[in-house]
Amino acid sequence: MEKIIALNHKMNMEYEEVQNYLKNIQELEINPIIFPTAIYAKKFVDSGIKTGLQNIYSQNSGPYTGEISPSQAKSIGIDYVLIGHFERRKIFKETNKDINEKIKAAVNNNLKVILCVGEGKNENQEEIIKTQIIEGLKDIKEEIIIAYEPTWAIGSNEMPNKKELENIIKYIKSFFDYDIMVLYGGSVGADTIKTIKEVNAVSGYLIGGNSTNISELKKIKEVIS
Ligand code: PGA
Repeated sequence: MEKIIALNHKMNMEYEEVQNYLKNIQELEINPIIFPTAIYAKKFVDSGIKTGLQNIYSQNSGPYTGEISPSQAKSIGIDYVLIGHFERRKIFKETNKDINEKIKAAVNNNLKVILCVGEGKNENQEEIIKTQIIEGLKDIKEEIIIAYEPTWAIGSNEMPNKKELENIIKYIKSFFDYDIMVLYGGSVGADTIKTIKEVNAVSGYLIGGNSTNISELKKIKEVIS
């Protein structure tokens, strides 16, 4: 099966850059799922690109200044949502309980959820991931996608080795009674992807820093095709 290429733009690019990017990314023909900054999302949807949001709120409407609801997202043609990204957990103090509520709201609106999990440098990997999965997915029956992103690998140019990646993906899959797709994220670039692509259990890549860099994406495409 073709690997998923998910591009997390984070809070990067101004509108003019987005317009150039749109043209270039379409020419690249990598069939990505793009997670743009939310104010640009409709532009991506209208260009026929699979589009997601980087975050979502747990309510469908109401007095929640500054938030975006899953039903609003769905109403403009959004199909995917990233939930529980490390930066949301760390900077915006999202807990596993918050994440669980967001996932419930998202699946109730037929959004495809990519739940981000991952341990820090000196943390007990299995304990952290188990808690993130069990608490994050409490009472959720719908199928989701996992993105495994060790937090120490995000934006650092460091990465787990092949064996470590194989082991943790096997561990993650053991919590599910369906063949869950597990993406890898954390310093994915043209160099590091050579290792990741050798791990068959990886269903795709979640790319952050390089997601807005067309020439790097071009090199990535060459390595994986
Ligand atoms: P990175 O980010 O590719 O810059 O390491 C990954 C992510 O935060 O999803």
